[in-house]
Amino acid sequence: MIDHDALLKISYGMYVVCSGNSKKGNGFISNSVMQVTSDPAQVAVTCNKKNFSADVIEHSGVLSISILPQTASPDVISTFGYKSGRNVDKLKSFNVRYGLNDVPVLLTDAIATLECTVKTTFDAGTHLLFICEVEHTTMIDNTLEPITYDYYRKVKKGASPVNAPTYVDESKQQQPTATSENHRCSVCGYVYEDADNDTPFSAIDDEWVCPICGATKEMFEKI
Ligand SMILES: Cc1cc2nc3c(=O)[nH]c(=O)nc-3n(C[C@H](O)[C@H](O)[C@H](O)COP(=O)(O)O)c2cc1C
Repeated sequence: MIDHDALLKISYGMYVVCSGNSKKGNGFISNSVMQVTSDPAQVAVTCNKKNFSADVIEHSGVLSISILPQTASPDVISTFGYKSGRNVDKLKSFNVRYGLNDVPVLLTDAIATLECTVKTTFDAGTHLLFICEVEHTTMIDNTLEPITYDYYRKVKKGASPVNAPTYVDESKQQQPTATSENHRCSVCGYVYEDADNDTPFSAIDDEWVCPICGATKEMFEKI
């Protein structure tokens, strides 16, 4: 038996992983980045095969990693975590520079960035696991606190979509209490719990948007 709460005790950060080049670049949110060796500095990144990024990384052989802070904007999370580069140019409205082998590097909301070359690719079933050598790093704002996946879930009340390795079908997990009324964002899975907020969902402003992905109030469904 798999208890997903046990798996969620594993600690993760949150990152925007970009790949491609200045002609066709893309980025996606990943919580599955870890350092695997110190000398040479190598990191591992997993990417769902269905993500456009998997093709772009395999094709270009380079990627950059932008380490996100606790203050990461909903715009960054919703664009890179919930939209696909197959349909939209995600980089166009953000601050990006082009680094190693012309790889895009997201500067918006970045604490630090790593530019890497892909050394080995493992097939992990639904995901590809890229082992990458870090060729260049840039510290952008050393004062910011990196966001952990736990903080994203518990403080920002964020969820992750089906392509993330940590995806859990919350509708099967969560048992709302009889007294609280909860509403789930149909775009990103964020749950607005009346019990946790001063204003019940029914009374919040119509202009209010999902704090994680920016979806409008009408995109929420009662659970
Ligand atoms: C918090 C969070 C964590 C995520 N972690 C991963 C991850 O580690 N690997 C992955 O393949 N997708 C992950 N995703 C999902 C991708 O970011 C998402 O499917 C994205 O839209 C893919 O974009 P693309 O098709 O342009 O590559 C995560 C999303 C969120 C919101």
